[in-house]
Amino acid sequence: MTSVGIDAVELWTGNLKLDLAETFAVEKGKDPAYFTEGLGLRASSFPDSYEDIVTMGANAAKRLMDRKGLEPEDIGRIDVATESSFDNSKPLSTYIAGCLEQVYDGDFHHANKGERKFACIAGTQSVDDAYNWIRAGRNRGRKAIVVATDTALYERDDSGEATQGAGAVALLIDEDPDLVELSTEQGYGSADETDFLKPQQQFPSVDGKRSVQVYLARMREALEDYESVAGDVRLADFAYAPYHTPYPGMVRKAAALAYRHVTRDTEVEDELAETIGRQPRRETFDDDSAYQDAVREYMDALKDTDQYKSWYAATVEPTLSISRDVGNWYTASVHVARIAALKDAYDDDRDLAGENLLVASYGSGAQAEIHGETVQDGWREEVAALNVDEQLESRYDLSWSEYEEVHDRHNHEKDTELEEFTAPSGEFVFDGWGRMGERKYTYVE
Ligand code: CAA
Repeated sequence: MTSVGIDAVELWTGNLKLDLAETFAVEKGKDPAYFTEGLGLRASSFPDSYEDIVTMGANAAKRLMDRKGLEPEDIGRIDVATESSFDNSKPLSTYIAGCLEQVYDGDFHHANKGERKFACIAGTQSVDDAYNWIRAGRNRGRKAIVVATDTALYERDDSGEATQGAGAVALLIDEDPDLVELSTEQGYGSADETDFLKPQQQFPSVDGKRSVQVYLARMREALEDYESVAGDVRLADFAYAPYHTPYPGMVRKAAALAYRHVTRDTEVEDELAETIGRQPRRETFDDDSAYQDAVREYMDALKDTDQYKSWYAATVEPTLSISRDVGNWYTASVHVARIAALKDAYDDDRDLAGENLLVASYGSGAQAEIHGETVQDGWREEVAALNVDEQLESRYDLSWSEYEEVHDRHNHEKDTELEEFTAPSGEFVFDGWGRMGERKYTYVE
């Protein structure tokens, strides 16, 4: 069977940042540890006044095409995943293709374009669509570009304000990929939920506490479904587990529950039983609340064991390193976590070829999806070409009042002009409105 997967990936962060401990916490009179330890975040990325979901997506896609030496005719499909779209009809992929056509010879007139929506999981769904298109043999030898791009902004003073972020990831999906091959096995956990939604509005209505519970419930369903097709997940089989990361604290909760699930009735549980006892089983309790208390007690003890801590430190913690400095990128977030994992192996000079990732995506509303990926021989060269650290370091550090102006600038209800904080260079920029209210873009050398 043809191997299909992610051939290359690129990331583009918004050019501004807000330091959460130094700026947000001080302004709000909050303990900085709430951000850095509780949520697990140091900073959020924001778009400068000339940036938006199109510029960030087009910039990531251009880096991808340049690096892989691609021309428009090599691309048969461009899908954009976002939950920040500004048009209910014209898809962002047409805007992004229009940007790219300004800088390449040729055009994307024969590429199929679309826009995918299912909250944060739409990026992974677009990768699926591209995978299926190639597997079905409809690609005529061409490749697909998937762009996941979002400005994850919340209403001012919303509980989600600390988890904001803005950026894009572009992925090249192809046969015989250089980076990772995708498993055919997938597990889903999907239900009609109202935890986080945007009914015809820019900023989300969020039931934050419930959204956390829904994330965990759907992830558990997806894991069980994945195991029903791929067999039991064994800890030793996966080098990293990149999760959708609305904030690292969310993943910390999900990872502990996943560990309990996959170690049940295994030698790991037997070994742990010597120090913390066996996992509580529902059938040995008279009622749910006694069982839930016992589970909570077990989880607290589990998180303190050497076995759990060393698994978490090796398999999950490295996937959070970029997210800690950029915040939530919604559709791009799980793809940022994958980049962080691969970068960790690269920085450690580890040979990852042939090893597996367990990738866990999630979108509010709600759906989780879990699949496996196998790292390919070309991964080291791909990761070496990324400039993530340089991008993060060169962001402009906003003061609180500047942050307020930037939030207003990107609020669709407000018509706020704002002088840019950074000078665009070698990137697409927003440069005004067209005659039908469309957004216009240009490339700045
Ligand atoms: N020092 C250290 N830790 C502290 C602390 C301090 N001073 N103060 C609080 N904490 C800890 C808390 O104990 C808590 O830890 P645990 O999670 O381990 O219990 C953590 O900091 C967070 O504290 P709260 O739960 O009190 O935080 P909150 O209620 O203010 O906000 C939130 C959390 C509700 C998730 C909020 O950030 C939010 O609404 N976010 C938007 C929605 C979201 O991201 N949901 C995630 C699941 S949905 C999803 O994944 C889709 C998506 O992308 C949006």
